[in-house]
This record gives sequence, C-alpha cells and structure tokens, in this order.
Amino acid sequence: PSDSGGCAAPEVVGHRGSGGTSPENTVASIRDARRSHAASIEIDVQLSADGTPFIFHDATGTRTTDVGEVYPDRASSPIVDFTWAELQQLDAGSYFSPRYAGEGIPHLDDAARALGGGRTTLNIEIKSPEDSPGVEAVLAEALTQDRRWQRLVARDRVVVSSFDEASLTAFHELAPQIPVLQIGDIPADDATLDRWAGFADGVVTNYRILDPADIDRVRARDLELGLYTLNSPEAVDAAADLCVDEVITDFPTEMVRLLRGRDP
Ligand code: G3P
Ligand code: MG
Repeated sequence: PSDSGGCAAPEVVGHRGSGGTSPENTVASIRDARRSHAASIEIDVQLSADGTPFIFHDATGTRTTDVGEVYPDRASSPIVDFTWAELQQLDAGSYFSPRYAGEGIPHLDDAARALGGGRTTLNIEIKSPEDSPGVEAVLAEALTQDRRWQRLVARDRVVVSSFDEASLTAFHELAPQIPVLQIGDIPADDATLDRWAGFADGVVTNYRILDPADIDRVRARDLELGLYTLNSPEAVDAAADLCVDEVITDFPTEMVRLLRGRDP
C-alpha cells in the first residue's frame, strides 16, 4: 500500500558499492551496484600517508582486510598511516567471501573506470577528513583536472558528500561546479539549515532518527533529501511513502526491484 500521493519513487543509492552483496568499497562492489541499476553508488574516500586518495570506510583495516597477516605489528594502526604502496598489498575481498580473494583497496580513479558509461552517478563521501588533511584539495584536483573525471562531472555524474561541514565547504569552494550533499541529523535550528542550503544541493540523514516533520523544512529550502542506510523492505517502503529523493542501501538490487514493483 502506498500513500505517497503520486510522487516519484526514491532513487536507489548503493552503499559502499553494494556492501551487502559484495565486499564494500571495492571495484567488484561498484560493478555489482552498477548491475543493480541503482541510480547512484556511494563510496568513502580517505588519503594515504603519501597523499593518494583511496576508497575505504573504516579507520583501521581490521574488519575488512588481512592487515593483521600482512603487517602483524600494525594491525590496528590507522589506515591513513599506510602508504599507497602498502595499502596495495592488502586483500579487501576475502573478509566477505573467499570468492573475492585478491580484491584490493581501490584508488579513487578506479571508481571512475568501474563506473563506465551510462548514467549511474557516483557519490564520493569524504570520510573522516580530520585524519586525511588536504583531502579536499586532492579530490578537487582529481575531479577537475583528470580527463576521465572531467567527463563524468560534465555529465552530472559526480557528487561529493560528508558529515563534516567544514570539509564539504572547503571542497565546494575549490570545485563549485560539483554538487555537494551534507550528511547529518537535520538541524533543529533554521539558521543551520539555511547555512547548509547556501552551499549544498541536498541533505542525507539517518532514517532511524528522521522526524517526518522536518521534511517540509528541508523541502522549503529546495534541498534534496536522502536517507541512509535502509536495508529492509519495510524501511524502503516507508521512505517511499514519505516521498524522499533517495534511499541509500547495502542491497541495491533488491531495493531497485522493490521500488519498481510498488503501486504507482
Ligand atoms: O552516505 C551516507 C552513509 O554512507 C554515511 O555513513 O558511515 O556508512 O559512511 P557511513
Ligand atoms: Mg559513507
């Protein structure tokens, strides 16, 4: 049953690629998300110790890599303390399934290649920018100076997001042509929401703490509204009923199918 009053179904965003069905934030997972026909694919970006942008969510490699085997003395070291050459020695696929053994930590540019043609957009989240000083400039340089990224940007296929407002506005000043999304709780005070509307195209918020009454406050400022991370059909149905613009999920194949099957 739908009481969405005829609004378009939310767009589906694959979270960390398609993190529920393949190893998160890997090229395999970006390809998995592409096959799902999700409108967009979210990845997290950090900077290595020698300044290379790489795709990774956690602060350490313990959960999703074999760092403890490759670097036994550094198993719980911050992931950003490793050089790019060191990161390339890690297996970021086996934690999910032996089927993905040898799947590496991707370079940011690998995401542009994996995205390929078509219309799928990439949502690049600047993750923990306090641990990746200078990440905004590195990202802006890549997205505006590299030919492959330039083509994606020109086709509106790249957005940048972050929980960190200072980082997001720093990036926005360097590359104002690239849309940005502020992640976080919808601020209770109008002044903060007005400030976000001054630089961001949208707000991405935790669906578990969304107060539906705040949706009108977001809309009134012409901000798009995205929700994360919705992994049950019930949660996605409820988000569709609220007419949100996008739902971020670890299961994009399942949620694309669900939303296509909803009554118009
Ligand atoms: O894009 C929203 C979502 O990715 C934020 O949470 O911790 O999964 O990066 P996290
Ligand atoms: Mg993220």
